Amino acid sequence: MVVSAAVGLILAATLYAALALHRNPPSNVERIDPKTLHLTGEFTEDNLGTRLEDGKIVTRIVATQFFFVPRCVVVPEGQPVTLRLSSPDVIHGILVTGTNVNTMVVPGYVSQVHTVFRTVGNLLMPCHEFCGLGHSQMLARVQVVPADQFHPDQLGRASCAAQ
Ligand code: CUA
Repeated sequence: MVVSAAVGLILAATLYAALALHRNPPSNVERIDPKTLHLTGEFTEDNLGTRLEDGKIVTRIVATQFFFVPRCVVVPEGQPVTLRLSSPDVIHGILVTGTNVNTMVVPGYVSQVHTVFRTVGNLLMPCHEFCGLGHSQMLARVQVVPADQFHPDQLGRASCAAQ
């Protein structure tokens, strides 16, 4: 009886977290060639960072030994944001402090996270998977601005420097 109650309680808590709080493991299975990541396709340099695409906010980041490109991304508060990450070299991991963003970045795949940033300010985004000697130096910044201060340019791009 006690074990059944404990199992039932854990199952209920898991379902509540998944369905009501939307705390789900990233499950996007999307392949990409890590060798040509920076040469063609969506992860080329001028396509990185935050973009407004068909009314959706998409932020693309490359995680590489031992930094993120770009080092800072800007996102609006209280709006759905899709983060897309990829790695050309080894396995990295990212989390954004104070949010539910937490995923591995595995070469050969695109890691995708949907989230809504609820607090304005600069959030740290460190690498949390040991990826080599420079691992501890590997960190980026997510600049969350009020929605009325989020102004993409005519190409739909928004960057920290422009804010
Ligand atoms: Cu990248 Cu640790």
